[in-house]
Amino acid sequence: MERRTGSLELQQIASNASGNVEEIADIWRDSAQGFRGIHMDMVCQSGPCGIVVTDALELDHPIVYVNSVFELITGYRADEVLGRNCRFLQYRSPFAQRRYSLVDTAVVAEISRCLNDGVVFQGELLNFRKDGTPLMNRLCLTPIYNDEGVITHFLGVQSFTEVKLNHGSLPGLDWEKSKHHTYMQKLEDPFTQRTSLLGCDEASENFCSLHRVNDEILAFSILVRLTPRDIASFSIVCQRFSKMTKDENLWKLVCQNAWGSETTSLLETVAGPRKLAWEKIARQLTTLEVAAWREFSVGGSVHPSCCNFSVCAVGSKVVLFGGEGVNMQPRNDTFVLDLSDSHPEWKHVHVKFAPPGRWGHTLSCLNNSQLVVFGGCGTDGLLNDAFVLDLDELQPTWREITSTIRPVPRSWHSSCTLDGTKLVVSGGCTDSGALLSDTFLLDLTMENPMWREINVSWRPPSRLGHTLSVCGSHKILMYGGLATSGSVRLRSSDAYIIDLSDEEPRWKYVIGNMLPGGVSPSNSVPPPRLDHVALSLPGGRVVVFGGSIAGSHSAAQLYMLDTTEEKPTWRILYVPGQQPNFAWGHSTCVVGGTRVMVLGGHHTGEEWVLTELHELCLASASEQD
Ligand SMILES: Cc1cc2nc3c(=O)[nH]c(=O)nc-3n(C[C@H](O)[C@H](O)[C@H](O)COP(=O)(O)O)c2cc1C
Repeated sequence: MERRTGSLELQQIASNASGNVEEIADIWRDSAQGFRGIHMDMVCQSGPCGIVVTDALELDHPIVYVNSVFELITGYRADEVLGRNCRFLQYRSPFAQRRYSLVDTAVVAEISRCLNDGVVFQGELLNFRKDGTPLMNRLCLTPIYNDEGVITHFLGVQSFTEVKLNHGSLPGLDWEKSKHHTYMQKLEDPFTQRTSLLGCDEASENFCSLHRVNDEILAFSILVRLTPRDIASFSIVCQRFSKMTKDENLWKLVCQNAWGSETTSLLETVAGPRKLAWEKIARQLTTLEVAAWREFSVGGSVHPSCCNFSVCAVGSKVVLFGGEGVNMQPRNDTFVLDLSDSHPEWKHVHVKFAPPGRWGHTLSCLNNSQLVVFGGCGTDGLLNDAFVLDLDELQPTWREITSTIRPVPRSWHSSCTLDGTKLVVSGGCTDSGALLSDTFLLDLTMENPMWREINVSWRPPSRLGHTLSVCGSHKILMYGGLATSGSVRLRSSDAYIIDLSDEEPRWKYVIGNMLPGGVSPSNSVPPPRLDHVALSLPGGRVVVFGGSIAGSHSAAQLYMLDTTEEKPTWRILYVPGQQPNFAWGHSTCVVGGTRVMVLGGHHTGEEWVLTELHELCLASASEQD
């Protein structure tokens, strides 16, 4: 072996390696003997190199010096590695306990042999940065002798190159060098190159599948697929993203995309001091975290008193129409309760023309400003007429919809409005007492609105006292009611859905009580019922409560069904506050999409006064941010 001594070589190595000349010189000076046996051709030729000096007189060759290039490339700080053997670079991570399987053990054995024999080693082996990035290390190890010819140190010069690991070629080491770029070149030009980790797709995939346990890892696995330029931009704009997400218009658009414009315009009717920020509305309606019952009184009166009326919300107003007065007298009065008033009170609406009196009819809202009444039981029997009222008119007038085609006269049917413009009516009871299973649609955007039956190949069993709830913009969920079951009629807990945007709409069974005798298969399925309340929440969820229920079940319990789930299941919704003690016969409507008003109803023979209301509040402005 050739032995040479001299500061010139050291200077050359140090400057060639971009190491700190003074530091290395210090080491050399501190070592009384200085370095010997430096082979210039063995040190790196392509760019800055890492330099490591180990103590050969100590057990296991502890590191006594690393240059800043070593720190920069490997990601290990000097204080983390001093005193350790260099083999940790063969470990996949700082926490790994053993050499990575793809590190060539023949090369490692050759290093050991060279160190033992005190000869120069030159070769390549797989190393890893602290963050797990694989690097190819072209390593040159040279023994340093003192004047007595004893090896006191080993000098290691490392030239790192990016590699792509090929796991398919186990067990032997197989790597591809990436276009002859040294790792330092990458560091110098971060925005034109992908990082090593990105070049290592399979490795990062393994990493992800093993560790995809939390959001941070998930975010990481997304971020590693971006380019550094993306990451740099992302880190710069992230704060801006954060600021942007506070934008009221952005939240409104996001809610509109998710829930449809009809729902968002309905939510906008929550006026005055109760007006909520869209971000808050989105959170509260998604989590239902602030949902609570409350009881409150309003002024005015609904006189003469009646039951079996229908209510409906129009903007911030609750509108009541019809009902059964004394001596079963069908009524045709219209009353309004404006909840945006500081002291809401019932007011009789003086209309120019009113439809014939009725009870057991339906009242629905159109376009958030009009009302449509259909069917019910009048003085001369059941009705199949429809009337529309615009409350904003100076002299409000009920106008009849003249259509040559009409559903058969009925009462205790169910209705809902699609897109705010189409009235959908289903089921009910005929004059002869027969139950119906048909579904009719009245498009009120037409100049001469015409009823049309929705033709389906299969219908859910005929029923009355059920509910229709709109989910999204085209789907309707039918739930409960008193349904025919063979030769008998039973309370139902079945839910069916139909998508009216389909070319050939079909009713589909969703979930229900399939057991005989109306027995619920589990506790979380709502007990079968009729004359209940069903309210649609944004995002395709439906909440039901109340109604006439057999046995000792509580009608006040709330159940929620998410129709967007692949296999929707009922969930019990626990809501604090003063819930109504109702049994059945109440009427409800949802004001501004967030205030579920419960009026009237019978409980143990008592009738509620229409000035004592229960409200299920789904959103609250007072909740702290
Ligand atoms: C000065 C010096 C520098 C070294 N640098 C590295 C290195 O950069 N990467 C590496 O994998 N091994 C390096 N080694 C080799 C290991 O420290 C160790 O000697 C080798 O893994 C064989 O020993 P083992 O089989 O006990 O692990 C270096 C050794 C010395 C003496």
